[in-house]
Amino acid sequence: MTTVTPAPLADRTAYHSAVDMALGACAAYYGDGTSPLDDASYDLLAGRIRAYELEYPEDVREDSPTGKVGGGAAPSGDVAHTVPMLSLDNVFSADELFKWEASLARRLGGPVAGGYVVEPKLDGAAIAARYVDGRLVQLVTRGDGAFGEDISHAIGSIVGLPLELDKSATFEVRGEVLLTREQFEAANAIRLAHGAKVFSNPRNGTAGTLRAKDRPYVIETTFFAYGVIGLTGDTHEEMMAAAAATGVQTTAATPAGLRVYASVEEVQCRVQEIAAMRAELPFGIDGVVIKANAVAEQDKAGFATRHPHWATAYKLPPSVQRSKLLAVEWNVGRTGVIAPRAVLEPVEVDGSVVQYATLHNPRFIRDSGLMIGDTVGVFKAGDIIPRVEAPVVELRTGAESPIVLPEACPKCGGEIDTSGERWECAGGAGGGCGLLAALRYAVGRDQLDIDGLGVTYIEALVDSGAVTDVGDLFTLRLEQLVDATRSEKRAETVLGQIEAAKAKPLSRVFCALGVVRTGRTLSREIARYFDTMDAIRAADADALAAVPKLPGANAPKIAAHIAALAPVIDKLVAAGVNMTQPTLPGAAEGGPLTGEVVVITGGMHGALAGKNRTEMNDLVTQAGGSSSGSVSRKTTILVAGEGAGSKLAKAQELGTRILTEQEFAKLVADYLT
Ligand code: IVH
Repeated sequence: MTTVTPAPLADRTAYHSAVDMALGACAAYYGDGTSPLDDASYDLLAGRIRAYELEYPEDVREDSPTGKVGGGAAPSGDVAHTVPMLSLDNVFSADELFKWEASLARRLGGPVAGGYVVEPKLDGAAIAARYVDGRLVQLVTRGDGAFGEDISHAIGSIVGLPLELDKSATFEVRGEVLLTREQFEAANAIRLAHGAKVFSNPRNGTAGTLRAKDRPYVIETTFFAYGVIGLTGDTHEEMMAAAAATGVQTTAATPAGLRVYASVEEVQCRVQEIAAMRAELPFGIDGVVIKANAVAEQDKAGFATRHPHWATAYKLPPSVQRSKLLAVEWNVGRTGVIAPRAVLEPVEVDGSVVQYATLHNPRFIRDSGLMIGDTVGVFKAGDIIPRVEAPVVELRTGAESPIVLPEACPKCGGEIDTSGERWECAGGAGGGCGLLAALRYAVGRDQLDIDGLGVTYIEALVDSGAVTDVGDLFTLRLEQLVDATRSEKRAETVLGQIEAAKAKPLSRVFCALGVVRTGRTLSREIARYFDTMDAIRAADADALAAVPKLPGANAPKIAAHIAALAPVIDKLVAAGVNMTQPTLPGAAEGGPLTGEVVVITGGMHGALAGKNRTEMNDLVTQAGGSSSGSVSRKTTILVAGEGAGSKLAKAQELGTRILTEQEFAKLVADYLT
């Protein structure tokens, strides 16, 4: 296990560099929410600084972060707090809790009589929310405790802070805004979709979210009140109940709740109970807060400069632990997704030993700047798979090495499709690595054209085991499709499309197989050259190399892949899928378009309605012509459909023969199927 030990503060130089590091971390945390130090490292550092300052008070820097709210770096803003927003003192053990009780009793002149309230210490950002006549009018950050920043732009995005209350009350609630684990996931998904950096943990995410203005997307957060000003009650419990009665969410609504105990022994038991439920809570906590319940006793105990004497935080050991990134493994999932996994020095997080953590995707690795050998924060985000925070760059030794992204699929050695956020094996449809990608491709418009089978349904079919390769699509039963699509109607549509797909020309069926180094054009060439699937299967590399447009160097790979796909092709044959390339009357030589170079533009109607470009190009070829995508001097016919634009203009300019879609349809009428 790696322990991050900041340089011992043996001398003044060490003290200065520690203060600089802590100030930098605070500034970054309050700047864009991306502190280089996790909480545990920061606490450690602050502890060393404090110890040095106690020993050498003459050296204490004025800007030292010790003893200041937010290390003195919290942006103070310009909204004055009604009552200072203070911090809490900490205890770290039962022993210290009893000492706190004793000192409180001294201040009260006797033991606490009104009991203790015990609540979770929520790990987010403190804010004050002001309601006027039942309407939420202003949100203010804690800032330096005296002044905070106006973050009213976040009104409406915080669960637990209704815009309008049932009661027309005027008061201020104080509490913690946080991202629940679910909200954290959603936030990162939204940020990835918008090309923004992912949040490294919920806490930083909350800070960043509250400050951000004018984002093109909204990130939802959650609020729990732990204090109220302006509502009456004799106890903290009563005041919180009064706040909850208005519709505001309070700590009482958390799974750990708000409970009152008569003795500190009971409080200690409750602390253990809350600590035990920590991993299951839907959000992070970093301790348990204990407060004297009776307002009269709170008033009597009073305040220190930074914190009340009547409350304390029982800090739990940080659940972000530090470890070292030893290696990155690339695993290929059942659906072909190639996912990076961190191999860590074993570290205990929330009661279990963690050795692996998800690194999400290559983008996360790039964005976080992680390197092998880095010291990283490891935390559990409520789910089973632990996560890794951004590296602690300050702790690099120079021995770190870059993470090498794979160039080939680690499972089959095939190509990787890097076009999406998640990398996928681009391997063929014979099951195995690239199954999901391959199926998506196979049902595509230019292949089998089963467009009712969207990616979600394909995933469901793969998950249920109903589809293990392209061949399985053709033996799907209605019930299996109902299961996957959750709709009888959709299932019937898909079944109809699958039936229709059986009659597609060989060029498309072959294309749907996703053979390496072949696409639509080459599939058409191969199908035309060999006419039947049997002939294609019988062809060796040399025979394939003779196909027009097929680069000879690729032929061996293509031949090998076709051979490997034998079981899939057998399934297709057995299901009655067409295995021949239609040779229509007069195709190629002698057709009405022989010698013509045809460009199609605009939308098609009438007899040609619904034909996409690939189908139109097929038609041109079948009628003996060749098709092209752009108008040039070589173009002999331009077919101008509805909305034809620049291509039509160019053809007119060049004096190219122009046909309406009706004229063209007439010309190729024999080839229309
Ligand atoms: S009471 C005057 N209760 O912890 C006392 N604070 O480290 C006000 N916090 O600034 C604080 N959960 O942001 C209180 N149940 C809870 C809390 C809580 C989280 C935060 C709060 C405070 C910080 C002190």
